[in-house]
Amino acid sequence: MNTKAAASKVDLEKYRLRRFVKRLIDLGEVEIHDEPVALTGLSAIIESTGKALLFTKAGPERLEIVAKTAGSRKRLAAAFDTSEERLYDEYFKRLGSLQPLVEVPSDDAPVHAIKITGKDVDLGRLPFHPQHAYDGSCYLSAAIDYTIDPATGRRNVGCRRLSLRNRYEAGTNVTAPSDLKRIYTACAARRERLPITFTVGAHPLDFVAATTRQPGDELALVANFRGEPAPVVKSLTNDILVPADAEITLEGYLDERGYAEPEGPYGEYMGYYGAIHMDPVFHCTAITMRRDALHHTLLHGSAFVLDQTDSANITALRTEAEAMKILRATVAEPVAVHLRSASGGGGTLRVSIRQRAAGEARAAIQAIFKGIMRLKAVYVFDDDIDIHDDGQTEWSLGTRFQADEDLIVLQGVQGQTMDPSLNGRKTGAKTGFDCTRRFGRAGEITYTRCAAKVFAGPPRFQTVEQALASGPMFYADVVESLGSDDGREVACALDALRQGGRLGRDRDGRYHLVAAKPGVTAIVGELYHDPNEGA
Ligand SMILES: Cc1cc2nc3c(=O)[nH]c(=O)nc-3n(C[C@H](O)[C@H](O)[C@H](O)COP(=O)(O)O)c2cc1C
Repeated sequence: MNTKAAASKVDLEKYRLRRFVKRLIDLGEVEIHDEPVALTGLSAIIESTGKALLFTKAGPERLEIVAKTAGSRKRLAAAFDTSEERLYDEYFKRLGSLQPLVEVPSDDAPVHAIKITGKDVDLGRLPFHPQHAYDGSCYLSAAIDYTIDPATGRRNVGCRRLSLRNRYEAGTNVTAPSDLKRIYTACAARRERLPITFTVGAHPLDFVAATTRQPGDELALVANFRGEPAPVVKSLTNDILVPADAEITLEGYLDERGYAEPEGPYGEYMGYYGAIHMDPVFHCTAITMRRDALHHTLLHGSAFVLDQTDSANITALRTEAEAMKILRATVAEPVAVHLRSASGGGGTLRVSIRQRAAGEARAAIQAIFKGIMRLKAVYVFDDDIDIHDDGQTEWSLGTRFQADEDLIVLQGVQGQTMDPSLNGRKTGAKTGFDCTRRFGRAGEITYTRCAAKVFAGPPRFQTVEQALASGPMFYADVVESLGSDDGREVACALDALRQGGRLGRDRDGRYHLVAAKPGVTAIVGELYHDPNEGA
């Protein structure tokens, strides 16, 4: 940890959420609602748009609440200060560049400007709000949790939702396998409380840090992903350090009773409800906040717009980064990766490669499934396909894929716990689709992607004969090489060569200048066997 001098230099505003929201507004990414909106009205509005949202008069307290700040790749790229194309490289660059944490005193920490402790604590004054139709309570869904493993001293960071129980208590969800689950289960077995502090209202980079799992100190990830020293402050009622520039913190502990109370159902990342589970209860011992705190929410499980959710986009970024790393180690020329967040839980990945050897698509599929368990389907395309374009990928699936040769099914592999199609099983199947062209045949006319000819460039020849004397040419290339804006005269000039016994054509259709029988086009080489011709 650094000295006070370092603390005085660290920027306490640069990574606050409000600053980032201003940037998003400048980018035209935010839908602003200045009209009063009841807490019951928030979720339907959030679900109805792909934009981030800023409500300036939410609930009876007329609070400012922002939503979906990380709900698109464009917004994540803004958070990383890079382009969407460079996001996955930037992710690994920052993950690997270590940055210090700088502890600031409570008096200097913006998030400690207002301190509410003891009996004055009232979670019910925060905008927990109804979300999905069958949820178990109202939720505060944009919380990031900070803990210290009492057994090792290791600092852990994750995201966990909170459901309102009363002014001092909230439900939380720690059922899926996670570091927090391991830490808390061990505490509960010893009948010990686990101190925990949540931040609410954080920069998207802090969410990226929270969802990246690593064996070492996870608090350090906050600074690493920001790419510069991160200010942290010790909580008032426990020893946990949290970002000093957050909007709000909720301090307290998960109690010693373990998984003692039912939590949920709640809309989950697969687009279905997660069932009620027994879960720990959070007891709040302090609430701190900035003077002009910006509240923060997100929707988690709306089925048909999962690609607009913060968690799907954050997961997609991480998955794409990991997939590109695997591809670079597996095939000669990986081109792009794109996770289809709408598929639920990060299940469908599209990849494009420039094939340099037979079998590369298969190798890519196998390596990606081995390295990234959460994926369910991987499609591999050639580099001429824009994998963000549904039309192009559909066309490639329809014309370059044969299920009996190009489908890879891996059985008995671990699936996503919340995937209802597993029907309760822990393991299921993964499918790989090799949608690449047959290797080595890309140059053949019947494997060539058809598109209108775009004529350009200055004339290079004056006659068809001169053009063909330079080498074999396709019809449209002859037209272009003569600078013609018509083309009919070229067809007639070719016929004149045919009649004069000077025209040939190869199997791909190029015209050649050759010695031929007058009136008959010579065939240069052999034509392709046409399967429609019969034997
Ligand atoms: C917005 C958001 C909300 C999340 N909510 C929960 C949750 O309530 N319960 C849970 O187990 N995981 C939740 N997750 C996933 C965990 O945060 C993620 O698995 C994280 O890596 C766990 O961290 P840990 O293993 O360091 O404890 C959420 C993720 C996001 C992005």
